[in-house]
Amino acid sequence: MHEVRPQVAGVLVSAPAFDTVARVFAPDALGTTVRLRGWVLRTRSSGGILFMALRDRTGVVQVTGRRDALGDAAYEAAEHVQIEGAVSVEGTVAEDRRAPEGREIRASRITVIDSGEPFPIFSDQTEEFRLDKRHLTIRSQENVAIFRVKAELLRAFREFLDREEVVEMTPPIISGNAAEGGAEAFQIDYFGRPGYLSQSAQLYLEALLFPHERVYSLTSAFRAEKSRTTRHITEFLMLEVELAWCDLAGLLDFTERMMVSTVHAVASRRPKELTALGRRPEELLAITAPFERVRYAEAIDRLSKLGFPVHFGSDIATAEERALTLESHSPLFVTHFPRELKAFYMLRSTDDPRTVEAADLLGSEGYGEIVGASCRETDIARLTERIVETGAKVEEYEWYLDLRRHGSVPHAGFGLGIERVLRWMLRREHIRDTTPFPRTPSRHTP
Ligand code: 4AD
Ligand code: MG
Repeated sequence: MHEVRPQVAGVLVSAPAFDTVARVFAPDALGTTVRLRGWVLRTRSSGGILFMALRDRTGVVQVTGRRDALGDAAYEAAEHVQIEGAVSVEGTVAEDRRAPEGREIRASRITVIDSGEPFPIFSDQTEEFRLDKRHLTIRSQENVAIFRVKAELLRAFREFLDREEVVEMTPPIISGNAAEGGAEAFQIDYFGRPGYLSQSAQLYLEALLFPHERVYSLTSAFRAEKSRTTRHITEFLMLEVELAWCDLAGLLDFTERMMVSTVHAVASRRPKELTALGRRPEELLAITAPFERVRYAEAIDRLSKLGFPVHFGSDIATAEERALTLESHSPLFVTHFPRELKAFYMLRSTDDPRTVEAADLLGSEGYGEIVGASCRETDIARLTERIVETGAKVEEYEWYLDLRRHGSVPHAGFGLGIERVLRWMLRREHIRDTTPFPRTPSRHTP
């Protein structure tokens, strides 16, 4: 194998020459010599022994080093390494009941790569300060766990969609249309003409559906929502799926299977991270299909009995969504909303023309909307009428209307907020915890 061996501060850093922390905990590792490199979580020394918690991408291990084994100069250099300083270590894997994981490294050599400046993050700092230092706080063990779970979630969604023969597409982010309505679109100056950052890839996925029948995309979506809530960010990841020949029952069935399959995959592959984050994997494995389905009208009834001043036509906002699922351990579909509450592209119901063939999936335990789904209107006259009602210019949607002129077929799709799903799965109070660099009305740095 060809090895690239760059030199950093005199230390060989090529991958094959180093072990990982995970290797230390392998059954046959006791008594062997390992070489690790990583970052220091904490150090202390007492009585000529240095204790160091060392982190790499696979975990954390305790390293001990005796002054007499390391030599005075190396011992003192290691003693002065700050939190998040970088080191490499060579030593023997030993059993130690006092060490958190039952094993430690007895170091024969510790090489300082960057001893670091005093790390500015510690407990009891304000949330604002921690967000200002987000480029550093993302190194915490808690954040490591959150973003490993997020990566697993994305992988599991993609695996499910691959099995279902849904093809990944790459729709644009810059557009001349504001897909979900102008008010919440970020406008940009596109060479002197107005452009928008994508609020949703839906219209493009609808176009791509004709040659591929089942398509999805995983892209950033942008919403200039001024509201400061615990579930809105201005830039988020949206998984969007568009399926040909699909009605509402088929769409709900697909969405539900995808959710169960994905949540189970994450629960079984990331038990350590979930447990560290206070979420028992068994609770997630207990989520099964079918999810309960209630029509909007029935949901309004329930809310009214709970004392909410609502009637047919009322918006189901945060507080109402919360009340509908607070007691349940499984997500809930609310279907058949009045069409005035929903986007222009949704298919009018045939049994009740006041409503559309749409569904919101609400996370259990009060977490609110995580998926927005609907069948798409195929009737070009109705579609045009709805565009006009929203105050948009029909000319701007001509290309979209073309899709209804050339082989129009029934189709349906949904958008799922990745951070919303993660917030629900991990029971986080605030959505900003689920994205490494959150964008909110008051923050777009770091
Ligand atoms: O319900 P929404 O607005 O639906 C659409 O955009 C459709 N065009 C999607 C489609 O059918 N292809 O958004 C879809 C989902 C929501 O259910 C929510 O999970 C998430 O996107 N979402 C947000 N997540 C975080 N912050 C925000 N500001 C969000 N706005 C929507
Ligand atoms: Mg929605």
